[in-house]
Amino acid sequence: MDRSDALVFFGMTGDLAYKKIFPALYRMARRQALDVPVIGVASTPYHVDELRQRARASIEELLGGVDDEDAFTHLSDSMDYVSGNYADLSTFFELRTRLAAAGSMRPAHYLAIPPSLFPTVVENLGTSGCAKNARLIIEKPFGRDLASAQVLNETVHAVFPEHDIFRIDHYLGKEAIQNIVFFRFANSFLEPIWNRNYVRLVQITMAEDFGVEGRGRFYEEVGALRDVVQNHLLQTVALLAMEPPPGGGADALRDEKETLFRAIRPLERPDIVRGQFDGYRAEAGVAPDSDVETYAAVRLHVDSWRWADVPFYIRAGKEMPQTFTEVRVELHRPPQRVFGRFAEMPHDNNYLRFRLSPDVVIAIGAMAKNPGEEMTGHPVELDLKNDVPDEMTAYERLLGDALDGETFLFAREDGVESAWRVVDDVLRDHDPAHPYAKGTWGPPEADAIVDDPHGWHDPET
Ligand code: BG6
Repeated sequence: MDRSDALVFFGMTGDLAYKKIFPALYRMARRQALDVPVIGVASTPYHVDELRQRARASIEELLGGVDDEDAFTHLSDSMDYVSGNYADLSTFFELRTRLAAAGSMRPAHYLAIPPSLFPTVVENLGTSGCAKNARLIIEKPFGRDLASAQVLNETVHAVFPEHDIFRIDHYLGKEAIQNIVFFRFANSFLEPIWNRNYVRLVQITMAEDFGVEGRGRFYEEVGALRDVVQNHLLQTVALLAMEPPPGGGADALRDEKETLFRAIRPLERPDIVRGQFDGYRAEAGVAPDSDVETYAAVRLHVDSWRWADVPFYIRAGKEMPQTFTEVRVELHRPPQRVFGRFAEMPHDNNYLRFRLSPDVVIAIGAMAKNPGEEMTGHPVELDLKNDVPDEMTAYERLLGDALDGETFLFAREDGVESAWRVVDDVLRDHDPAHPYAKGTWGPPEADAIVDDPHGWHDPET
């Protein structure tokens, strides 16, 4: 196996490392899967012991404590730290020395740094020799629109070949997302109904009952469309709607996703309603007159034989009443009301429901008869899968795969650009964001996006 023999982490003292990477590395150490040195790089003038303390604090806060001291010791012993300015080549020469000391011949460089620094770091990795035979792992957002994503792809390709680039969308590392693909293609009963003849509409909701949590400055640069719609939610649409990848394998899958992205009609102004929760402008780092959206609802059209005229409604928002991500694929109702007295038969009781987080659910919604003489019924759900969240977290899975050079769960150059193409126009051309109160399902104006008497499917709160 062509496994990388060192993980270099740029931005090791930052938010992502604290919230996701230290816990993932610790969990890897606990399963004896951390077999490479981890070299942190950042401008903070830390001693490596301070980084170890930060790792412990992160694990205590996010995993509720260190429950395996041997695993933590292994993680600590695996850690090294280079402090320096990313614009300064000497930082990279120092990194090269540390990599050599660790005996690394095939490092993986993970960039969890502000996107504006990507070009400098990539170039310096190349000039210093650190990029030789190396892999590159890049955090989202990959660019901020189509043009910048294209430039960024050019920048990274000047130093790294495409097969050594791993663009992270952590949603793709989630067990529940993999389940969508598995469920679709490991069963034969779904395929006959998985098209416009049976599917009436698709709704995807990504709701979070919290705000921007101190990330106001970052959020001002992105907004909901760039933060989660262009990546997590469009990737979910692609996996739901793509054709079966012939022969399997990472490239077949990525080819099908790319074809699907190209079939999505680029969004236009009437296809999107943006919202902003009351109080957002008072967050640290947020402009007092900010028009950045903390909520976005969009209507997508997939111009393909399979999906023509089936609307895909997507919404994502902060400060919603609940935290969950869920897909509902609603089927047409039966063509005839065989049970005359059951005239009130609702429209939306035949569906498939994929809950992606916080728990993993696959369920089928159906109608069942009420006991007794009358031919009346009630909706029921058949649980096909109902699990606790991931055994393995998304970041553990993605780090492991990137170290192994396995590209299946990573976005490819063309896929990222095609996803930007879908949202590119409305990034600039949109109505002002509508205000909404915290703890609601977003601005009422978003109701107009769903052209259906049942509107958005809000769970009971
Ligand atoms: C991130 C976004 O990519 O995904 C966050 O930047 C969002 O704003 C997060 O909260 C949600 O991911 P998860 O895995 O915590 O549901």
